Amino acid sequence: MRVLVTGGAGFIGSNLVDVLVRDFEVGVVDDLSTGKAEHVNPKVWFKEMDILDDGFARALGEFGPDAVVHLAAQPSVAASLLDPDRDWEVNAEGTRRVAEAARDAGAVRVYSASSAAVYGEPVELPLPESAQKDPLSPYGRSKLASEELLASELASSAVDFASLRFSNVYGPRQDWRGEGGVVAVFCAALVAGRVPTIFGSGKQTRDFVFVGDVVAAIGAALVSDSRLRDDPDGGPAYNISTGQQTSVEALAKVLRSFSGFAEPYNYGPTREGDIEHSALDPRKARSDFGWDARVSLENGLEQTYRWFLGSE
Ligand SMILES: NC(=O)c1ccc[n+]([C@@H]2O[C@H](COP(=O)([O-])OP(=O)(O)OC[C@H]3O[C@@H](n4cnc5c(N)ncnc54)[C@H](O)[C@@H]3O)[C@@H](O)[C@H]2O)c1
Repeated sequence: MRVLVTGGAGFIGSNLVDVLVRDFEVGVVDDLSTGKAEHVNPKVWFKEMDILDDGFARALGEFGPDAVVHLAAQPSVAASLLDPDRDWEVNAEGTRRVAEAARDAGAVRVYSASSAAVYGEPVELPLPESAQKDPLSPYGRSKLASEELLASELASSAVDFASLRFSNVYGPRQDWRGEGGVVAVFCAALVAGRVPTIFGSGKQTRDFVFVGDVVAAIGAALVSDSRLRDDPDGGPAYNISTGQQTSVEALAKVLRSFSGFAEPYNYGPTREGDIEHSALDPRKARSDFGWDARVSLENGLEQTYRWFLGSE
């Protein structure tokens, strides 16, 4: 199988590609806006290009993928608030172009990264795919629009299109600058001997999923036999998550145990727009892809902390 990964130089993408190259021919398109050239696996066909570039469809045709994993995106909620037009262009219009180009290039399956941000304030926990969608940010809205577009493409073509809604992904290579996930931000502070800051009470919870588990989910989805399920109310979408809630304070405590950092953490004000609790129900991915998140939080955090230690 030939698999094209957009965003394959990024955090999730580069971890994915390192595993896919063991079994498949892999191509990467990435404009290196947040991704890093040194994370692009040397075994892949690589094109440094914006997915919005006029030459993108031609490049995709040149590689000729059987499947496309679309991870390239403007990934920051904060950046989407500052520049919603750019966010829309990359995430909504970008996904439309990737979907069309993939179909024209003869791909039979397209998976696109979506996010817990499409749900907004949860009405139940853990959230099933069918839960109400009321995104709170331009980022959440552009991800939801890209999901809707793929659902209509699925209905009108022979290609299997689906969205994978990641919860809070963490692991090696996550960028801690900008809007880096809380795990990356804490790890970077701890290895540099800086006191991490917990924003809000620390009792807020997230569904932290290790990047290795996300990579395994995408791998399982790529080889799964099941025709992607367009549930009447859930859409062709899958939560990729653990279903578990972990508080930021609990996370901080585990990281403290590896780092030996003795000082108390700082506390800062609650960040505007932050939801209090989040967890996504992964049962649909389990039943359709035979996938489960297997890496414990302690193990995943230790791997991540050690990576930050080594990259200092
Ligand atoms: N990290 C998380 O916790 C998380 C959670 C939910 C969803 N997601 C989604 O998963 C995907 C991957 O996220 P990530 O955390 O690896 O982010 P990332 O920033 O590390 O990766 C995104 C990659 O896409 C590339 N890119 C961005 N715009 C591009 C464009 N116009 N053309 C070509 N390449 C472009 C970047 O250079 C980067 O390599 C994104 O779609 C993101 O929205 C991530």
